[in-house]
Amino acid sequence: MENSTKNGDVSGKENEDTFTIAVAGKGGTGKTTLSGLLIRELVERNIGSVLAIDADPNANLNELLGFEIGGTIGQLEAEVLQDSQEVPPGMTKKRWMELHLQQILAEGKGKDLLVMGRGEGPSCYCAINNILREYLNNLARNYDFLVMDNEAGMEHLSRRTTAGIDALLIASDGNPIAIQSARRIAGLVDELDIEVGKKYLVLNNVVGELPDKSDQMIEELDLELLGVVPRDENVLELCWDGEPIDLLESDSSTANAVREMVNKLIPDTVGLSHVNNE
Ligand SMILES: Nc1ncnc2c1ncn2[C@@H]1O[C@H](COP(=O)(O)OP(=O)(O)OP(=O)(O)O)[C@@H](O)[C@H]1O
Ligand SMILES: [Mg+2]
Repeated sequence: MENSTKNGDVSGKENEDTFTIAVAGKGGTGKTTLSGLLIRELVERNIGSVLAIDADPNANLNELLGFEIGGTIGQLEAEVLQDSQEVPPGMTKKRWMELHLQQILAEGKGKDLLVMGRGEGPSCYCAINNILREYLNNLARNYDFLVMDNEAGMEHLSRRTTAGIDALLIASDGNPIAIQSARRIAGLVDELDIEVGKKYLVLNNVVGELPDKSDQMIEELDLELLGVVPRDENVLELCWDGEPIDLLESDSSTANAVREMVNKLIPDTVGLSHVNNE
C-alpha cells in the first residue's frame, strides 16, 4: 500500500487472523463487481489493510479497482520455467522469484492487488508451486483482509494456496435456474482442498422484488443469503467506460446493499463507513 509497507518488512502487520473473503459463482454473475465493491467498503471503513487477489485467469479486477499491474504470477511462473538462465549468478531461484513477486504486487490507497493470471507452467512443477504457495501464505498474513475474485469454482486458487477462507460468497443472478446453479458451485468448492468457514449466497443484479417462493428454494441450498444486490445502471455504465468502481455513488442502492453485507460479515465495524475517511 502507498504510505505503508508490503511484505511486512517494517510496519507490515503480522496477522494470524486475516479475514478472508472469496467470491465464486457462475460466469457473469457479478463476482468481480462484488469483489470490487467489497474492497471499496472495507477500505472506506478504514479498519485495516486489504489485499485484493485476482484469482480468475481472465483477470479484470485491476480495471475495476483502477490499478495498473506490472505482471501476473502466471507470467512469472512461465518466465522461470522457460528462461532459468535469467536468474543472476549467486542468487537462488527462490530469492529471484521473491524479488519479482514483490514487483507484481500493485500498491494502491488502502489496498494492494495481486493478480494470479493464467497458469502458464505445468501444474506439477512442484519447486515453483511450493515457492509461490509459501510466498502467498506469508503475504496474506501481512493483511487484515483478503478479498479474492475467482473463476466460477475456484479451481486455480486451490493449486496455489492452502490458506483457508472465512467467508465464501457464491454470487448468483436472482432467477431460479441461477440460484440452483449456486448449489452446484458450492458442491465444486467442497471438492477442493480449501478450508471454508462459512458459505453464503449473494443474489446480484436483481430487478424488482424476489418472489416469496424464492425463500424456500434458497433454504434448500444450505447457504445463508448474505444479501440481495439490485441491478444498478450506474454499475454497468462504469463498466462500459472502463472506469473504476470507486466512482459509484457511495449511497447508491448497490453500494448500500454491499455495506449491509459487510455489516453481517464483520458486525463489530457497523457504522464505520465514511466516518474515518472524511
Ligand atoms: N448489480 C449490478 N447492476 C448492474 N450491472 C451489474 C451488476 N453487477 C454486475 N453487473 C454487470 O454485469 C457484468 C458482469 O459482471 P462481472 O464482471 O462482475 O461478473 P463476473 O461474475 O465477474 O464475470 P466473469 O465470470 O466473466 O468473471 C458487468 O458488465 C457488470 O458491470
Ligand atoms: Mg469476473
